[in-house]
Amino acid sequence: MIKFELNGRQISVDADPDMPLLWAIRDEIGLTGTKFGCGIGACGACTVHIDGTATRSCITYLGDVEGLSVTTIEGLDEKGNHPVQEAWRNLRVPQCGYCQSGQIMQAASLLQDTPNPSDEDIDAVMTGNLCRCMTYPRIRQAVRDAAT
Ligand code: FES
Repeated sequence: MIKFELNGRQISVDADPDMPLLWAIRDEIGLTGTKFGCGIGACGACTVHIDGTATRSCITYLGDVEGLSVTTIEGLDEKGNHPVQEAWRNLRVPQCGYCQSGQIMQAASLLQDTPNPSDEDIDAVMTGNLCRCMTYPRIRQAVRDAAT
């Protein structure tokens, strides 16, 4: 039994500690906002926060989060009104949308660490989150908007 905090609530998950956190979140807990893209830490679709740090949940094991605090896209803001989510909506950033929860989690972490990022800061942090629809210009603008 692995105990940790998920989106502000203490939970216990009865699953293999070697299960990727991504699958525990999706299949054991049933929160499907966190997406599977590559499974090898290379695309960012599975990004969650662990103790406030953006982390690839596909290469993090369930056992690794014992006693830690995990936030998924569902818990970023109770009503979905985090400044990053508002900026994303205002600019209509998503196209197909598949990668966007990971993009938003990465951006929220960036702004937590660097409240007024330069374009170079944005690019340096967001470069590991891939988008096959090429929404990168809107992502960069939305991060700028969320920072103001
Ligand atoms: Fe985790 Fe691609 S699914 S980084």
